Amino acid sequence: MPEIGLIQGRFLPLADALVPLEDRGYQFGDGVYEVIRTYQGVPFQLEAHLERLQTSAQAIQLALPYQDAEWKRMIIEGIRLAEYPECKIYIQVTRGVAPRDHAFPQNVGPSAVMTIREMLPVPLPVSTRGVNVLVIEDIRWGRCDIKCLNLLPNVLARQQARSLQAFEAVFVRDDQVTEGAISNVFMVNAGVVVTCPVGPQLLAGVTRQLVLELAKQEGISIEERVISLTEFKEAAEIFLTGTTIEILPVVKVNGAPLNSGLPGPITSTLINRFQSLVGGNRLH
Ligand code: PDD
Repeated sequence: MPEIGLIQGRFLPLADALVPLEDRGYQFGDGVYEVIRTYQGVPFQLEAHLERLQTSAQAIQLALPYQDAEWKRMIIEGIRLAEYPECKIYIQVTRGVAPRDHAFPQNVGPSAVMTIREMLPVPLPVSTRGVNVLVIEDIRWGRCDIKCLNLLPNVLARQQARSLQAFEAVFVRDDQVTEGAISNVFMVNAGVVVTCPVGPQLLAGVTRQLVLELAKQEGISIEERVISLTEFKEAAEIFLTGTTIEILPVVKVNGAPLNSGLPGPITSTLINRFQSLVGGNRLH
């Protein structure tokens, strides 16, 4: 049964898994979400994703309807039913269904939905060659650490990037690079891997944390500090990280080639390390 969605704890064909019109996720974006992917059919970094779901929910005073064990059971069941070679699992929890009123509804439980879709990787020619990114002013709110449903600035930024043949939008706030619209951002300078420290201005990416650990294991120096736009544009190497894009080299900023215009050596080392960890056989 491919194309399935979970609603009220049950998997249904996606077309039948419908959300009521007064769901607060639909009307206010009042909810949180996670995106998880599988490798060899096994959800990757599941504990870290469920922990972040819990952290995001707590930050908006939302009680999750399921414990970790129940999420895991449903995710495993969904993967089995979907029968895809690799799955992308989307989980969304909202404050439930209630007549439209901004303040929290009384005596209404949260609503959880899940979709299981086929996980299609970034096409190999794109990930091998590297991508162009567009730098955009970060107009998002002050709690980008919460993985919440209000993604309109990200949607608009990514659309603007796409219209200019850029793969991703990179946000800049007060002349400092924070993160991408769907990714965390790293640069390499003088052999040191640098990324913005976690805080309210960016999402603490699961892939970001893993890449920092892999860099440490490889003996590569890391620094978590702010990155100015000037040093970003002059970086030796840049790459993006995220569940759906893994580690993606950046070879152009605003259409201007970075250095050689080729993925850099430290980026390639980390990609190889990452691929051997996830058992991927993609060549880089
Ligand atoms: N996005 N920053 C933002 C704003 C993101 O939306 C994401 C992920 C990341 C990377 O986080 P992680 O490594 O945990 O996937 C950073 C997901 C995939 C999405 O919204 O589709």
